[in-house]
Amino acid sequence: MVEIIKHPLIQDKLTRMRKTTTPTLIFRQNLKELTQLLMYEATKHLKVNEIEIETPVVDKAVGFKISNPIQLVAILRAGIGMVDAAKELLPNAPIGYVGLYRNEETLKPVKYYFKMPQPRSDAIVFVLDPMLATGGSAIAAIDLIKKEHKQEKIVFVGIVGCPEGISALSKAHPDVDIYLAAEDEKLNDKGYIIPGLGDAGDRIFGTK
Ligand code: PRP
Ligand code: URA
Repeated sequence: MVEIIKHPLIQDKLTRMRKTTTPTLIFRQNLKELTQLLMYEATKHLKVNEIEIETPVVDKAVGFKISNPIQLVAILRAGIGMVDAAKELLPNAPIGYVGLYRNEETLKPVKYYFKMPQPRSDAIVFVLDPMLATGGSAIAAIDLIKKEHKQEKIVFVGIVGCPEGISALSKAHPDVDIYLAAEDEKLNDKGYIIPGLGDAGDRIFGTK
């Protein structure tokens, strides 16, 4: 399942991120706000259990608790820009990191870091990365999460995708739901999304 969330707030914030003139601080702020809006949508199918609670007015009322444990996994570097927003919404979720960079010539992802929380058979893992370009990084991260971290239920949350990346990820991992703020036109010959927003990692960390 692929869901592109077209909401005026999302479109407005994404436009700010796309603009070349947007400074690092505003780029980060909009990425954080967009992540909260996307996570709100991406968590809408989570199951809840009824629990009994006491309120200041009555001894017994019905409350709800998310039934599955949640884990967050950020793909380095750019996924770091989404972690604060996701952890504010899901404060009990442990956080893992997968370090991947794209080889600039082959565009293939290279792994340099992998640190996960304790696996839980019933956990739902939200993988965070703003960009789904060739799809190589998301596919490699999810391969690792399935094979080495032994988690099966995975949701991908990104900001900008393109037909090439969406189709590659859907083909490699058809069981993974994908939530994005936009599906852009295509990739250019350097593997950048057009119109996109440039190199997300560089824009978040001010490295170019
Ligand atoms: C970017 C981005 C994704 C990846 C997407 O990371 O954050 O992880 O590219 O491209 P793909 O779908 O073609 O794999 P990058 O490799 O630039 O590393 P960085 O986040 O450290 O800058
Ligand atoms: N990674 C990015 O950060 N931006 C793109 O457009 C493609 C891959």
